[in-house]
Amino acid sequence: MANSNTTIDQVLQAVDIVDVIGDVLELQKKGKNFVGLCPFHADSNPSMTVSPEKQIFKCFSCGAGGNALKFVQDFEQIPFASALRKLAQRAGIEVQIQANPHADSFKTNSIVSQYYQFVLHNTKEGEAVVAYLNNRGLREDTIKQFGLGYAPSQQRLLQAVQKQQATALDLVKVGLLHDESNNELFRQRLMIPIDDSDGRIVGFSGRVLQGQEAKYINSPDSPIFHKSRVLYNLSRAKLAAKQAKRLFVVEGYMDVFRMVQSGVAECVAVMGTAFTKEHAALLAHYQVAVYFLFDGDTAGKTAALKSAYNANKLDAYVTLLPAGVDPDDYLSTHSIEAFEAIVAQSSSAAEFVYQQLLEPTNFDSSASIDAFKRGVIGYLRDQSPALQERYFHKLAANLNVSVESLLREIKAPSRRRNEPVVSITPVKYIKAERLLLNVMRTSKEQAYVIDQQMDNWIRAEHESLKELILQYYQTYSTYQAERFLPTVPEALQEEALLIFQEPSYLSKSQIADLFDTIEEYQLKSRLKYLQELRKTASATEKMALANEEFQIQQQLKRGGHDE
Ligand code: UTP
Ligand code: MN
Repeated sequence: MANSNTTIDQVLQAVDIVDVIGDVLELQKKGKNFVGLCPFHADSNPSMTVSPEKQIFKCFSCGAGGNALKFVQDFEQIPFASALRKLAQRAGIEVQIQANPHADSFKTNSIVSQYYQFVLHNTKEGEAVVAYLNNRGLREDTIKQFGLGYAPSQQRLLQAVQKQQATALDLVKVGLLHDESNNELFRQRLMIPIDDSDGRIVGFSGRVLQGQEAKYINSPDSPIFHKSRVLYNLSRAKLAAKQAKRLFVVEGYMDVFRMVQSGVAECVAVMGTAFTKEHAALLAHYQVAVYFLFDGDTAGKTAALKSAYNANKLDAYVTLLPAGVDPDDYLSTHSIEAFEAIVAQSSSAAEFVYQQLLEPTNFDSSASIDAFKRGVIGYLRDQSPALQERYFHKLAANLNVSVESLLREIKAPSRRRNEPVVSITPVKYIKAERLLLNVMRTSKEQAYVIDQQMDNWIRAEHESLKELILQYYQTYSTYQAERFLPTVPEALQEEALLIFQEPSYLSKSQIADLFDTIEEYQLKSRLKYLQELRKTASATEKMALANEEFQIQQQLKRGGHDE
């Protein structure tokens, strides 16, 4: 973790408190110390002493005192982390500015992934799994490319990772080990490491190979793993999607493996859950056509309908395979040409939604007609005027009413506006991200600096906008609204509008404060997660977790974040 004690000591050793204070106050030598007017109370004759020997300051009148860090913090009234950064800069020491308290979890997952891969490729048990995969048509290179592994029956995970300096507690923290008996979460399962769009491993999914247990189980949700936000294979698919100008969204891992192996690299999976609005935001900046490619059975159609609703600001299409056939099944028995022929038959998401709602409508029942109408209007509400108009004509014809009456209805406020808010993230963190994004937008230099320091964006929209800004500065070196604004896709415009109203010039210390705010969020979410873990932990783990919680609380206090 950054801001570790070594960094703090290093910085303190590299600066001289007499210089630091002497820069802002007049100091006079008195014996082996220096004296000056104390800035922390109304001082008339010098009552503050600065000791070069002890590297501290002390006011004998008001009691203020401490080391150089404390002085900068109190004098400039800035948080701990900003003060540290300031002093580090002065001393020419590079400190890792944005502390990412989750960094250890990425590392643990990566070590674990190496182990699972080792087991798959180097043990008797693993051999049988490779045979299973080969039997399903997966090639060696595909298995390697996706880092597939195997969690064996014998629980040796801890032993294995200890060689890499990872501990039981590290495993507990990523959800791979739990309870007193040190039971591993995954046993006798094919292991699929799940990475985020930057390629960092955030969790695992394990497929059962025999027995009646759940087919797939996943790492628990954690500050680095939100199932509703991750799109499996996005790190690899993103380049391919830009080139192909399309991206397939499928349901399962096996579908992804097969598609990639068949040459369709532009493909991600939702991992069993529905395609969410967060997923949509994450994909918005790619500005590619998104194809929902599902099994043509009832479940597949229902999933496609839900997905289409959540993707209503993307250029989305629905591609249905024959009933009972998933993309993996299809491509294992059909040519890529046959596959492309089906893709060519895709309907636009709007068309699909309309048909799905129309089909079951009973025109003898006013309730059924009403449901149809409400469904269509709900979908069209956020759509472009052109699309609205097109479907209103259809709807008017189907319902035998006037287009004008429908237009009045869509302009009426939606009944669903008071849905519970999904995100409970306090507004100050969201605001900090907005401010940082706006600084990034208007300065290439700041864009790179801020990007380096921001490890995890809280909101998917923000992550998407960040990508858009970096993309812009790959081509241009200065900001020009006429060039940038047209690149903001429809799906991000509402949020972008809010962001662009923020001030775009901030001082270094204001930016530093924003990083502190973001750090505070990271630390607090880490703290919450550890507290949750502690509820089910063993006695020894409880102690270790409590200790780490204490350290985070200290860090929050030092940073001036109220706890
Ligand atoms: P499927 O049941 O269709 O599995 O679930 P699959 O991908 O076709 O796998 P194979 O071909 O049987 O080996 C689709 C996706 O839903 C999620 C997984 O992401 C899976 O790939 N899922 C499914 C779960 O998370 N848990 C489950 O128990 C089942
Ligand atoms: Mn399948």
